[in-house]
Amino acid sequence: MLRTHNCGELRLEDATKQVTLCGWVQKVRDKGGMIWIDLRDRYGITQLVFDESKSPKAAIETARKLGREYVIQSVGTVVERYAKNDKMPTGNIEIDVEEIRILNPSIVPPFTIEDETDGGDELRMKYRYLDIRRNPVRKSLELRHQMLQQTRQYMDGQHFMEVETPVLIKSTPEGARDFVVPSRVNKGEFYALPQSPQTFKQLLMVSGIDRYFQIVKCFRDEDLRADRQPEFTQIDCEMSFITRDDILSTFEGLIRHLFKQVLHYDLGTVVHMSYDDAMKYYGNDKPDLRFEMQFSEIDDLVKGKGFSVFDDAEIVVGICAPGCAEYTRKQLDELTEYVKKPQIGAKGLVYSKYNIDGSFKSSIDKFYSQEDQQRWADRMGARPGDLMLILSGPVTQTRSALSELRLKMGTALGLRTRNVFKALWLLDFPLLEWDEASQRFHAMHHPFTSPTPEDMDKLGTDPGSVKANAYDLVINGVEIGGGSIRIHDKKLQQQMFNALGFTEVEAKKQFGFLLDAFEFGAPPHGGIAFGFDRLCAMFGGSDSIRDYIAFPKNNSGRDVMIDTPSTISQEQLDELSIALKQEEKA
Ligand code: AMO
Repeated sequence: MLRTHNCGELRLEDATKQVTLCGWVQKVRDKGGMIWIDLRDRYGITQLVFDESKSPKAAIETARKLGREYVIQSVGTVVERYAKNDKMPTGNIEIDVEEIRILNPSIVPPFTIEDETDGGDELRMKYRYLDIRRNPVRKSLELRHQMLQQTRQYMDGQHFMEVETPVLIKSTPEGARDFVVPSRVNKGEFYALPQSPQTFKQLLMVSGIDRYFQIVKCFRDEDLRADRQPEFTQIDCEMSFITRDDILSTFEGLIRHLFKQVLHYDLGTVVHMSYDDAMKYYGNDKPDLRFEMQFSEIDDLVKGKGFSVFDDAEIVVGICAPGCAEYTRKQLDELTEYVKKPQIGAKGLVYSKYNIDGSFKSSIDKFYSQEDQQRWADRMGARPGDLMLILSGPVTQTRSALSELRLKMGTALGLRTRNVFKALWLLDFPLLEWDEASQRFHAMHHPFTSPTPEDMDKLGTDPGSVKANAYDLVINGVEIGGGSIRIHDKKLQQQMFNALGFTEVEAKKQFGFLLDAFEFGAPPHGGIAFGFDRLCAMFGGSDSIRDYIAFPKNNSGRDVMIDTPSTISQEQLDELSIALKQEEKA
């Protein structure tokens, strides 16, 4: 070893010890007679000290040559510090240096390697290896490491077997676009990178593996956002001979274990909520339950009073913002502008202030009496001092807009704190959703999801009304995981493909291997996959999963450090029989 200790471990008890440390020079302070150096490694920072009156001359000379991020080795004695620093774990000691050696010099880094850096996002991504030297980034990766270890520990304890599935596969139908890889040997043919190992884990159930898991990279060519990367990691799981409730309790166990072991947090009750209720009360299939502000539909209370906007609306629905009756005209105008943004999609916003004195003041007082508004308040559970915010219009669009407004108000009122976690299982999703563009049903989850036992018979007759035996785990308004009980019966699977508009030939071409496997005694099975990066970001208190990925892509899907995607040589293109259009040539 080139060192006896690391830069984070020496304490006062170590005083008088001879030690050798290695690390990067974070900072040099040269005050003439004295030189101090902050030496950094993964474990912390230790102060080195040189005193012109007693340190060896050679050591002082070398110290004066050092620049930021030089890699050095330093031999010295641990001494008690005169001016202690209680902000750092090694702050009671310093190293009286006797010998110092430059192991490697460094050019000046493009940004300061400190907790608060002067480097912008793009620059830090270009030099991500330097960014990772910074504490906050390294800590995020440490959290991820801990989450990985604790996941493996729990899953192993529950007798799940970790099995690796291939990365060069045939496309998996998860709804996003595939990344494809051309085959050189099989000209004109392509592999696809897995959007998830869905079909493989089901095949492993046919193989009798019984309990499978894998912490696995998945690839989806979709629009990127803070919580989406083109390659991301899932905790992917599948079990045989189970019911839905077995899955929910097993994986609630995993999540509780992670909260307990990693954050020392006791996750409270994980509520079960139907998709229909989530849409009705929160306008969203991933409700943030850290705060109430449930929707109240007031159609029956508002129609027939001459206000045509409400009279003509499919739905009139509101929320009660506690303590907001004092909102100014300007604040209300801002909320109105907000809901009218194209991405929110409401036509306008109606408010009714329930004043402290018990009176009401609304934007449509002309149409609605004080008694009318009292009825709205009763329905919404509003109290004097509260503000009722009401939207109307087509059902889906109005609920979705009110959901955004609810989140905005939750944030404004400080109700979405990062150190509180509220989880729920969202159940009974529709199995299929109608797609106007292609004029056919799409699987809401994927085509292997089973209908609920009650709806099994309706698949042939009324597919749109069938509920899926599927579940999502939602925490603080983020979809952390999702899965389903699978179809294990070939006939039912065929019916599902029919409902999705696949001909028998198409289904056979795409999923023949799975249908064939189902002929050999497929056990009843089901599973789930968690978005591991999202889980890490949530545990770390961040909205962006990029912070928890060592080498992430930017929002255009680029890795600016290695500069990819990039062109390939004409030889490679020829070998792969790929002809680029003229305008695509570099
Ligand atoms: P699903 O498509 O719901 O299910 O994905 C499971 C979880 O993966 C996370 N996730 C993502 N995270 C980061 N970037 C992305 N682009 C991204 N896409 C999805 C989400 C999501 O809840 N095979 C099924 C699971 C099953 O049925 O067992 C599947 O992949 O947190």
